Amino acid sequence: MKNLNVGLIGGGFMGKAHSLAYSAMPMFFWPAPAMPVRKTIAEATEDLAAEAARRFGFEQSTSDWRKVVEDPEIDVVDIATPNHLHAEIAIAAAQAGKHIICEKPLARTGEESKAMYDAVKDAGIVHMVAFNYRRTPAVALAKKYIEEGAIGRILNFRGTYLQDWSADPNSPLSWRFQKSVAGSGALGDIATHVIDMARYLVGEFASVNSILSTWIPDRPLQSGGADALGNVRGGDGPRGDVDVDDEVMTMVRFANGAVGSIEATRNGWGRNNFITFEIHGTEGSIVFNYERRDELQVCFANDGGDRRGFRTVYTGPAHPYGDGLWPIPALGIGYGETKIIEAHDFFKAIAEGTSVSPNFADGYQTALIDDAIVASAEKDAWVDVPRVAELAD
Ligand SMILES: NC(=O)c1ccc[n+]([C@@H]2O[C@H](COP(=O)([O-])OP(=O)(O)OC[C@H]3O[C@@H](n4cnc5c(N)ncnc54)[C@H](O)[C@@H]3O)[C@@H](O)[C@H]2O)c1
Repeated sequence: MKNLNVGLIGGGFMGKAHSLAYSAMPMFFWPAPAMPVRKTIAEATEDLAAEAARRFGFEQSTSDWRKVVEDPEIDVVDIATPNHLHAEIAIAAAQAGKHIICEKPLARTGEESKAMYDAVKDAGIVHMVAFNYRRTPAVALAKKYIEEGAIGRILNFRGTYLQDWSADPNSPLSWRFQKSVAGSGALGDIATHVIDMARYLVGEFASVNSILSTWIPDRPLQSGGADALGNVRGGDGPRGDVDVDDEVMTMVRFANGAVGSIEATRNGWGRNNFITFEIHGTEGSIVFNYERRDELQVCFANDGGDRRGFRTVYTGPAHPYGDGLWPIPALGIGYGETKIIEAHDFFKAIAEGTSVSPNFADGYQTALIDDAIVASAEKDAWVDVPRVAELAD
């Protein structure tokens, strides 16, 4: 079993999640496809980097991410910084021949994502974009049922990602509210997870008709640092403009004829991590709610009329990833497990010399969907979604 040295760039929320995944992956999935070695972590300053190395168990630290990318001892570059840095780091890492996992959204725009996609294709390395929610076992089980034809031909997908952490007008103007850093607001930050699940479960998008709204036009300034995701108040100091969306709603036409809708907001009081989908097929329906992530609700049309209705399947050893997770159903899958599974599948692809999904082609395709949603909202009209050639039908 090979060791693979990881260089992690960014030690905030995702730095924590990815570090946990590297330490825990072999504890769950044994034998591990390869052993992750937490080699180097890069942060914005030397002090932050040293603290992150101590906290997350890395051997060394640096305030210069280029040193990670250029280090011949590093096998894997993990990009967990705010979005504006993804492209520059990923392109440099690809040119240095490193395998890359990059947090979502892949980049701020389709154009930036294309440059990243071109770089990894040329380099021939393993690449992955971290849409981890599709690796929730119940979501992978929904995929299995769909592939087996258990709900027939899909007619409709209704997806949401509703949160309330930015509903307070005095939560600070972190990087997530600045277009120059984030690219977009709720669209890139959270709707992309639902877009990824819709592509995974239903198929490619043909066109979109969308509305983007910004409900809170300015917020108290925050001078750098990690995003506290609404857990601090910004005080009475100077305020700056929000130039991204707080909410996105879109109708979708899928290439296979299915229709759908996706809604995402960070201003929905009372909603925390309300990622849901309901899928109707000609032979049944599937319902998922991440806030009850051990459960998948299913209804099959061929059940007798006197017993037809939704039943709840609790994911466990009989279901996707069950071999590596907990020994009985409903012990509880958490956010951490989705990242552990993601790390496993990424390392397996590296060890076996295969590709993994979602990868940079998927991240680029999602960015093209995001661009079409923005264009549709601006034009107030349906807009066709271009297709990455590699993903053509
Ligand atoms: N997959 C998911 O569920 C999920 C959840 C949250 C965030 N994300 C994505 O992960 C990425 C990071 O988000 P986050 O929530 O961890 O943000 P965060 O604000 O918590 O952390 C970002 C970290 O990057 C550091 N950083 C900034 N500039 C740097 C530089 N030049 N070199 C090294 N480090 C630098 C910051 O100091 C901060 O600690 C974003 O792309 C975001 O969209 C994904």
